[in-house]
Amino acid sequence: MNGIPAYTLNDGTTIPAIGLGTWPLDDTAAEQAVRSALGLGYRLVDTAANYRNETGVGRGIAGSGVPREEVVVTTKLPGRHHGYEETLASFEESRRRLGLEYVDLFLIHWPNPRVGRYVDSWKAMIRLREDGLVRSIGVSNFTPEHITRLEKETGVLPSVNQIELHPLFPQEELRGFHADQGIVTESWSPLGRGSDLLDDPAVARIAEAHGVTPAQVLLRWHVQLGALPVPKSADPGRQRANLDVFGFELDSDQLAAIAHRAPRRLGGDPERHEEF
Ligand SMILES: NC(=O)c1ccc[n+]([C@@H]2O[C@H](COP(=O)([O-])OP(=O)(O)OC[C@H]3O[C@@H](n4cnc5c(N)ncnc54)[C@H](OP(=O)(O)O)[C@@H]3O)[C@@H](O)[C@H]2O)c1
Repeated sequence: MNGIPAYTLNDGTTIPAIGLGTWPLDDTAAEQAVRSALGLGYRLVDTAANYRNETGVGRGIAGSGVPREEVVVTTKLPGRHHGYEETLASFEESRRRLGLEYVDLFLIHWPNPRVGRYVDSWKAMIRLREDGLVRSIGVSNFTPEHITRLEKETGVLPSVNQIELHPLFPQEELRGFHADQGIVTESWSPLGRGSDLLDDPAVARIAEAHGVTPAQVLLRWHVQLGALPVPKSADPGRQRANLDVFGFELDSDQLAAIAHRAPRRLGGDPERHEEF
């Protein structure tokens, strides 16, 4: 896939090993960012109904000149649409805004356990996949308990769990669970947005040793963990650099030095966070 390594999902489809995040871009900025990224070689784009930029993302794909079938488009179901019929309707709205015949990867954005309807949504997503409107189905911000419940009640495991993952919050246990279950770990906030990770002296030293940038070191850390990062950048220069992480290798000391940080979650706790 365009020189970028790929993962094979548990449903047999392939997905590039890195993608473009699009939050918090609006439609206009998302259109430009997606067109630029696809021109640079990105083939995976991450959006969500709640980012309110699916229209821009769809326009960016259409205007990129890259054949539709080469692009893996991810979108996500918002919490306010949990439930079987609600999920089918919400997907249809996302698909219309994206201007696509099918979506490659559809995720439940957050489990919202207090609402308690994510299993109903999962059943609808299985139906969408059977109907060919979605290629792969997955979740985001799910814990092992939530995932185990999906499998118990439907017999279908997610292909992907997109979670907060960066060196401040390395999520060893959850990644181990994913590996055992054959679920690909996708990393959100892979650069630790809003933290000082990009200015970390240890990361800077490793970057210097490899002749790369701190962001490239952090993204390479994800790649070597076997996780799939979706860094957001609207800047073509940073987009290009973020994609260029397959030509160097961190050694085990460097990997350990990067992850030895006081654990700190930057986003919500899936057990309590309510996303609508
Ligand atoms: N599933 C979920 O619940 C969830 C939650 C949060 C995020 N996400 C997804 O994950 C994506 C990425 O996460 P994120 O946006 O929170 O954080 P991130 O990708 O870790 O960080 C993005 C920030 O880093 C900057 N940046 C990007 N590349 C850089 C580079 N090479 N050097 C220096 N700065 C750089 C960006 O600014 P510039 O644009 O100016 O480059 C932006 O301010 C989101 O866009 C979204 O698609 C999902």
